[in-house]
Amino acid sequence: MCGIVGVLGDHEAAPLLVEALKRLEYRGYDSAGIATVNEAGRLDRRRAVGKLVNLSDLLVHEPLSGRAGIGHTRWATHGAATRENAHPHRAGRVAVVHNGIIENFRALRAELAEDGIEADSETDTEVVALLAARHLEQGMTPDEAVTATLERLEGAFALCFLFEGEGDLLIAARKGSPLAIGHGEGEMFVGSDAIALAPMTERITYLEEGDRAVISRAGAQIFDADGRRVNREMREVRLDAARIGKAGYRHFMAKEIAEQPAVIGDVLSAYIASDGSAVSLPLEGLDFRNISRLTLVACGTAHIACLAAKYWFERYARLPVEVDIASEFRYREAPIPPGTVALFVSQSGETADTLAALRYAQGKADKTVSLVNVPESSIARESDIAVPILAGAEISVASTKAFTCQLTTFALMALHAARQRGELDRAGLAAQLADLRRLPGLMSHALAIEDALREVARELAEARDVLFLGRGQMYPLALEGALKLKEISYIHAEGYPAGELKHGPIALIDKATPTVVLAPHDGLLDKTVSNMQEVMARGGPVLLITDSRAAESAAEGAWAQITLPEAPEFVQPILYALPVQMLAYHAALALGKDVDQPRNLAKSVTVE
Ligand code: AGP
Repeated sequence: MCGIVGVLGDHEAAPLLVEALKRLEYRGYDSAGIATVNEAGRLDRRRAVGKLVNLSDLLVHEPLSGRAGIGHTRWATHGAATRENAHPHRAGRVAVVHNGIIENFRALRAELAEDGIEADSETDTEVVALLAARHLEQGMTPDEAVTATLERLEGAFALCFLFEGEGDLLIAARKGSPLAIGHGEGEMFVGSDAIALAPMTERITYLEEGDRAVISRAGAQIFDADGRRVNREMREVRLDAARIGKAGYRHFMAKEIAEQPAVIGDVLSAYIASDGSAVSLPLEGLDFRNISRLTLVACGTAHIACLAAKYWFERYARLPVEVDIASEFRYREAPIPPGTVALFVSQSGETADTLAALRYAQGKADKTVSLVNVPESSIARESDIAVPILAGAEISVASTKAFTCQLTTFALMALHAARQRGELDRAGLAAQLADLRRLPGLMSHALAIEDALREVARELAEARDVLFLGRGQMYPLALEGALKLKEISYIHAEGYPAGELKHGPIALIDKATPTVVLAPHDGLLDKTVSNMQEVMARGGPVLLITDSRAAESAAEGAWAQITLPEAPEFVQPILYALPVQMLAYHAALALGKDVDQPRNLAKSVTVE
């Protein structure tokens, strides 16, 4: 939810901190701030409310010098988005930046108040600075003070501390929130993820749960939760710069929508055997013949990908699938009988609810599997099997290419399961894989509808409420269309199974409430057309997203129509993600919304 960064550099730290925070802004952008220790050992900070550009402006007028520093970009958890609540928080000789939630901060704040130590902000983080400062005042060294402070904290945190008079010291700690150390040439860095550190180094060490790192320019000493000195692997994390920048697109979302044919091609190339006859997913001996049930757990768009996967696993592999929202699953104490494999989907690999759900399933499910876009992430590292979705860095808060890569990976897994369980013979598998291999071309072709769709999106942007309908495997896409529209244009939208219309939602229909109907040519088309007629008979305008074959029988009376290339039924859910993504994008543009960083949202929800 927040991004933190630290620098022990050879040059002025402020520009490096701001550049790193730019790359972390997708994690939260309610406020930003940095602190540095200058050559005289003086600790000072600058903080600004709102986007990072406001901090940059402040630094022009009130620059900070010093080669050691920390920085933070905030998604507000405790306390409004104000300057007082902005990080870094400082007390006495110590400043700190934090990602996570200190769950016992009220008790700690009351304890400090009994000693006459009052907080200036509404945040949970400030108590961390106040505790560390008190320990320093008691004569502890910086590392002793941090260690004593960490012992008092409950909840989730990634922290980085900076100390007055210490121009060659950062202390970092992680518990429940990701944190990485970057190794430069005579320089050292700390960051919430490798994307933040990419401009400075590709040599990354990920801290493990409970680790503390004492860092100087000479290197990092890492201690585990028991205080034992440990070595953590340093790896080369190459982030293709082209895939981190906007590459000429106006928004990351536009770039990531356009990248989908290419990255789906990457997934297919990686996970289909070269002769096209088999699936080669890194499932490490997972045998679907020994599985009686698959439980899929995730949040948001990743959860919708699970709903779509259910149709494939049950129809083709005849494998019962249960789909759960992570924040519900983790508290429901769901029974997990023998023969169950629990699979967790997360683009970031750090979503708190999904991570907690994974931890609930450990020791209960036969195996835990994860589908992630960040192989070094907590969810990947804590699951028995981690399957990368190979989407490349996804920066825009609205998930697009990660969603279709999740779907493509699921589709391959379902076919593999079908083959293993004897539900699909060799020829049948080859035929389905051939259909999947047509996807990059179909998606490239589908991207061409953008011009036609732009005008329709502008009209849709005038609505206050929008309904999305789909039947069968188009139902999850109706949910995704509604989620995309609401999260970036702020228009209220709901997705429903078309068959549910008469059980309540039809009461919403009037001429001011457009209904978007996803209806390719499939076995349920006629029934969906009936639903469309019921909407139009009540004056509701219908936007039909279909293919040329279905349009012949379905399009009559529709307010507007978006026609995709005809596609095999098996791959339609992946293809039909494109129009709903573009619809949301252009509606948000028409409304002048901040497409990549919508209000109140963040890319990775690492707190409950
Ligand atoms: C997707 O457009 C949303 N930004 C959000 O629902 C996201 O899918 C959800 O927060 C899950 O994130 P994850 O995949 O990183 O776990």
